[in-house]
Amino acid sequence: MKDLDALYKKYLGRKGSLALALRTIGGLPKEERAKRARSLQDLKKELEGLIKDKSDELRRANEGRALKGEWIDTSAPGGKVRRGHLHPLSQIQQKVNEIFTSLGFEVAEGPEVESEWYNFDALNIPATHPARDMWDTFWLRQSQRGPALLMRTHTSPVQARYMEHHQPPFRIIAPGRVFRYEASDASHDIQFYQVEGLMVDKDISVASFKAVISEFLKGLFGEKVKTRLRPSFFPFVEPGFEVDMSCIVCQAGSKDKGVPRFRSGQVCSVCHGTTWVEIMGAGMAHPNVLKAAGYNPKGLQGFAFGIGIDRIAMMKYRVDDIRLFYGGDLRFLKQF
Ligand code: FA5
Repeated sequence: MKDLDALYKKYLGRKGSLALALRTIGGLPKEERAKRARSLQDLKKELEGLIKDKSDELRRANEGRALKGEWIDTSAPGGKVRRGHLHPLSQIQQKVNEIFTSLGFEVAEGPEVESEWYNFDALNIPATHPARDMWDTFWLRQSQRGPALLMRTHTSPVQARYMEHHQPPFRIIAPGRVFRYEASDASHDIQFYQVEGLMVDKDISVASFKAVISEFLKGLFGEKVKTRLRPSFFPFVEPGFEVDMSCIVCQAGSKDKGVPRFRSGQVCSVCHGTTWVEIMGAGMAHPNVLKAAGYNPKGLQGFAFGIGIDRIAMMKYRVDDIRLFYGGDLRFLKQF
């Protein structure tokens, strides 16, 4: 191949014989110039063709030699392809969606970057309302130019967005990520997942809510799980409550004697020895929220809830620190 390159340079290169010969044409008598140029061009083409053929031949010969030297062991066992899997929170999310869709709920969506209006005002939380302090917010834009923007602090704004374009009766869930500007600990993080639920129809009562939620929890945790409702306040429901479930991390809730401890003597970091873990806020849709959606709240009721998916995953997989879900440690994630 090297020799071929040298040949090319010698005859066809910029300073090769052919280039030199072409330069002499100008000195020839006029009638000979065209004839000479044509014959030199023909020669150039012929030489280029010959060199290309030879170079192709050499390349093919080289490739053949390389193939002959290669050896493939067709009896060798195949390499194992490692399969990934869904993050534990995604697995729980899928399961939650399955249970609710089997109960006739549709899945709705809303944006993570939300306007102040949908996150607060449309949910009966006006600017001066003290309930606004309940959520510490990551504000993105608090200017006079356009509506104030924030990272949504809960999935409840999807309720307002959905009701703007749909008429009852309906039942929806809205899963997604939410953000709160707060200190993190074993059961709180600054980002976590919620599933909002909203069912609006005639003759909906707290009993309907309890029936749906106990079906949901039994579907996830089996018949033995205990739940309790505590009165609570959310401006977009009336009455409102928090739903707790028995702590599965320390398997408490079923024992009634004193503060339950692990064998090591440590108190459970998830339920703090209370035996109960708060998993959702809920209540009956406030008439003002129904009115804001343009409905006539007379004869119309609804229930709404917001479940903390991370807390559910902690219970399901007995994880004692929520921050493990977001640490990206493969030794943890590969266990699911
Ligand atoms: C709310 O976010 C209401 N929007 C829920 C609601 C919906 C009430 C519809 C009424 C009607 P709350 O702040 O309690 O409520 O949060 C709901 C659930 O999210 C809690 O029960 C808990 O399971 C979970 N949660 C709250 N804060 C955190 C946090 N920092 N880290 C992880 N999970 C959290």
